[in-house]
Amino acid sequence: MSEFEVHAPGRVNLIGEHTDQSGGLVLPAAIDRGVTIRAAPSSIVRLRSSLTGSEASFNLATHDGSARGPRSGWGRYVAAVIDELAALGRPPAGLEGEVTSDLPAGAGLSSSAALEIAVAVALCQAAEWRPAPMALAQACQRAEHAAVGVPCGLMDQAVSLLARLGHALLLDCDSLAATHVALPAEVAILIIDSGITRRLEDTPYALRSQEIAQAVSALSGRRPADVAVEEFDCLAATLPAIARRRLRHVVTENDRVRRVVALLQSPDPDSAELGALLLEGHASLRDDLEVSLPAIDELVVVAIKHGAWGARMTGAGFGGSIVALVPRSRAEDVAGAILADERLATRGSTRVLMAAPSAGAAQLLGW
Ligand code: GLA
Repeated sequence: MSEFEVHAPGRVNLIGEHTDQSGGLVLPAAIDRGVTIRAAPSSIVRLRSSLTGSEASFNLATHDGSARGPRSGWGRYVAAVIDELAALGRPPAGLEGEVTSDLPAGAGLSSSAALEIAVAVALCQAAEWRPAPMALAQACQRAEHAAVGVPCGLMDQAVSLLARLGHALLLDCDSLAATHVALPAEVAILIIDSGITRRLEDTPYALRSQEIAQAVSALSGRRPADVAVEEFDCLAATLPAIARRRLRHVVTENDRVRRVVALLQSPDPDSAELGALLLEGHASLRDDLEVSLPAIDELVVVAIKHGAWGARMTGAGFGGSIVALVPRSRAEDVAGAILADERLATRGSTRVLMAAPSAGAAQLLGW
C-alpha cells in the first residue's frame, strides 16, 4: 500500500449539551475544519505534527497490549487510540506520516476527538481493517478517558466519524441509534469563538458529569431522555437544589433536541421557534448547569442583536465558542456586524467562522 490520507472533522453541537453523559440525545454537525493525516504503512507508528514540529513514535511489537511512546501532549491521544484499537483486535500494522489541523484547540470544537478519530481511521487503513463504525467511535471515547481522564460522552467521536455532508447527526447515546437530519439550505451556522481557551481536564466537566449522574438516580432507573418535562416537578420534588437544577437541565435539554429536530424536518421551519429553543438551551446551561461564563453570555446577546435567529454556547462550556443560526442570505452581514460590535471590539480575541455541515471520516473514506 502506498501513501494515503484521512481527515476527521471537528464539530459544532446545535443542541443537546451535556446530555450524552446520561444516555441522552445530541444533535451535532461536523464542520469543514479538522485533523488530516498523510501517511504510509510502516512497522512502527511515527507521526509528526506540522503545527509544533514535534514527533510521537510508538513500538507496536511489545506484545503486551500497550503502545510504547510519549504519554504527554498530543502523543497521549495517539498512544491511547493504538491501545484501544489493539484491544478491539486491530492487526498491529504501523504508519509513518504527518498530522495537520486547522481546528482551533480548546475552542469547544472537539479538536481532541478529531485527532483520535483521524489516528483511528489511519490505523484502520494501514491495517486494511474495518471495524463497525460505532465500535470505533466508542473505542476513541475510551481513548479520551484513558489519555486525559476526562469522562466524556460519545457525541464528539461519533459525529467526527459518522457525520454526513449537509446534515446534523441525531444520536441517542443510550440505544446508539443515529439519524442524519438534513439542514435546510436557508439556515447558516456561525461559530463565534470567544478566544477563551481551556483544556477539558482543567474544567469542572468531570464534576458536572458526576452531579448529573447523582441527580439522575432520583429517576429510579429511567433515563432523563424518557422523562416528560411535565413530570419533572413531581420526580424532582425531594432533590436538593443543585441536583434539581442539574436534572432540570438534562430533562429539558433532551426535550429541546426533539423539538429542534421536528422543526428542522418540517417543510417550512419556523425560524423564530428554532431560535427560541437555542436561547432556552443557553439559559439552561447558564443557570441550571452553570457551565457558561459572562463573556460567553455576552456573545449570545451580541449575536441576537445583529440578527441571529438563535444562539447558545456549544460544547462543554467554561469558555470556547457559541453557535448561532442565521439566515443564509444575511450570514456574511451578521458575521461582520458581530465582529464590529463595540462590546467585542476591546476583546480582540473573538473570531467568527462560517461552518459548513460536513462529512465525517467514514463518509470521506467511502466506508
Ligand atoms: C464535551 C464532551 C462531550 C459532551 C460535551 C457537552 O465536548 O466531549 O461528550 O459531553 O462536552 O455536551
